[in-house]
Amino acid sequence: MKKFAVNICRLVLAVTFILSGFVKAVDPLGTQYKIQDYLTVWGLGRYVPDFVTLSASVLLSAAEFILGSCLLFAIRRRLVSKIVLVMLAAMTLLTLWLALADPIHDCGCFGDALVLTNWQTLWKNVILLILAIIVWRWPLEMPRLISEPNQWIVMNYSAIFILVVISGRSLYTLPQFDFRPYHIGANIREGWQKMMDGEDSPFADFFIETTEEGEDITEQVLNDKGYTFLMISPHLEQADDSQLDELNQIYEYSHDNEYPFYCLTASPEKAINRWCDMTGADYPFCQTDDITLKTIIRSNPGLVLLKDGVIIRKWSHNALPDEQEFIGRLEDIELGQLPSDNVASKILWILTWFVLPLVLLTIADRLWAWSRWVRSQNKKYADKAKKAIKDNNPLNKENKIMRKKIVAGNWKMNMNLQDGIALAKELNETLKADKPNCGVVICTPFIHLASIAQFLDQDIIGLGAENCADKEKGAFTGEVSAEMVKSTGAQYVILGHSERREYYKETPEILKEKVLLAQKNDLKVIFCIGESLEEREAGKQNEVVKAELEGSVFNLSEEDFRKIVIAYEPIWAIGTGKTATAEQAEEIHAYIRSIIAEKYGEAVADDTTILYGGSCKASNAPELFAKPDIDGGLIGGASLKAADFKGIIDAWKK
Ligand code: PGA
Repeated sequence: MKKFAVNICRLVLAVTFILSGFVKAVDPLGTQYKIQDYLTVWGLGRYVPDFVTLSASVLLSAAEFILGSCLLFAIRRRLVSKIVLVMLAAMTLLTLWLALADPIHDCGCFGDALVLTNWQTLWKNVILLILAIIVWRWPLEMPRLISEPNQWIVMNYSAIFILVVISGRSLYTLPQFDFRPYHIGANIREGWQKMMDGEDSPFADFFIETTEEGEDITEQVLNDKGYTFLMISPHLEQADDSQLDELNQIYEYSHDNEYPFYCLTASPEKAINRWCDMTGADYPFCQTDDITLKTIIRSNPGLVLLKDGVIIRKWSHNALPDEQEFIGRLEDIELGQLPSDNVASKILWILTWFVLPLVLLTIADRLWAWSRWVRSQNKKYADKAKKAIKDNNPLNKENKIMRKKIVAGNWKMNMNLQDGIALAKELNETLKADKPNCGVVICTPFIHLASIAQFLDQDIIGLGAENCADKEKGAFTGEVSAEMVKSTGAQYVILGHSERREYYKETPEILKEKVLLAQKNDLKVIFCIGESLEEREAGKQNEVVKAELEGSVFNLSEEDFRKIVIAYEPIWAIGTGKTATAEQAEEIHAYIRSIIAEKYGEAVADDTTILYGGSCKASNAPELFAKPDIDGGLIGGASLKAADFKGIIDAWKK
């Protein structure tokens, strides 16, 4: 419903902006005169030069047109809806003032195409403003008609079309669509007659007076059954004099064929005389109201051909017919007839050159987007199918083999030196005899390391410490540095165990230092994370593990992070006999992998070994290890007896 409403508003606004921009652009001079009217009302008319008002006219209409296209195609939705809203708010304020003060009777929002009263305009703007607010509030509800990479084509095409094809062409020749009363085909004589009979007529201000005697010859000109040329120049002082030869030739032609030819102007005699001196003009001059002249033709000078009071042709000074076209009398040649191109053919022209290319572009774009979507869907299905085959095939342990499987023992503060050596020896022998299917590590108190390293076959069992200092070396009584650990022959170190975090107040910052020092000394870090019971009960486990990773290891480069083994150990399961269920463990392991993927990408996440720890035993290990995101265990209590530990290691053989 919301989407529907937003899109109706979008459509109404788009069509209004496109039409209003178009009708202004089609008559840039008309729009310029309107801007000048406003400036005059504000007392600025004299200070703003013509080229500024003309540029403002062209740019304003182009801006409206382009904004309309952007709304229609849903291009830059947020920005465009904001601009439209600001524009309409400004326009509504302006028209409120127009309605109240009535300084100008027609605001000019649709040029001459649709003349509204000031109050009608105000209500129209209030409605449009409401629509603009709706679109601005939910801009993203507008579906795009064209994909983002191709939007520039629509914008540039609209800009070139409106600026060059419409405004530029209209300025050079004449407006393609003539919405004024003096359009081709208009019967001035009839209109003028109506006015004489006291009826309303758009030609009320039309008069022709001879310059010399001040005689009104309007009736005579309009009642002439034959052809009359009217050269129109509101102000001869500003007339373009580049096409004088053509004008003089047409005058000669009219003279030879006895067609009347008048130059209608509002200029004073002095300017007329100067024009005659400059151009050698021989034709008679008549006076007409300058606004009427500007309304008759948007060209100074321009040429109008009348026949029996009807406008047959209009030419800008830039597009006057040449000599070859005037062979014979007007009665017999094409120039003397009403042109055949009507409004329908002009609309067809616009449809062909503006609407059709954009429709074709939209279709091509949609096809392109659709084919890309189909390709991506196909790829998705293919990947899914591949994964399904891989996951379901018991022989294909690619996923499991990709990252290292590890069962690591954490002896904690157990075993004196002799007992420790005995346990390590027993394990060494057992696993040499029955090779494990995974990596095996034992992490022992510091004092055992050097002795055990002497005999342990580290190709089968890795040796590690349970901690190391956060300082490199020096006066830190009782501490053991990463370098010292390494020097015993150990390769691993457990860091971040919850017991150290809790009892020895190891903070994320301290652990960050320890990780850096361990890696600097080529020790492989088994980094522990996990939540407390209260945190689990409050449902904060994800937050906690994420913060622990971010606090101590997410600062590492991808290369260094790849060397880390993660151990997820819910504190409430450590040494308590309460194991997390395989599902609970899998859920959070998958989450941990997803945040690693977010940080380092899918490939790193896929390769990271994530162990589970907390009351893991031979009895529950197979179920835990069967989960796709659990890559082994960190074992406390059950690592203190060779048989128990071996039972867990063997879970990888099931
Ligand atoms: P647990 O200890 O297996 O005795 O629960 C695990 C650990 O703390 O690493």
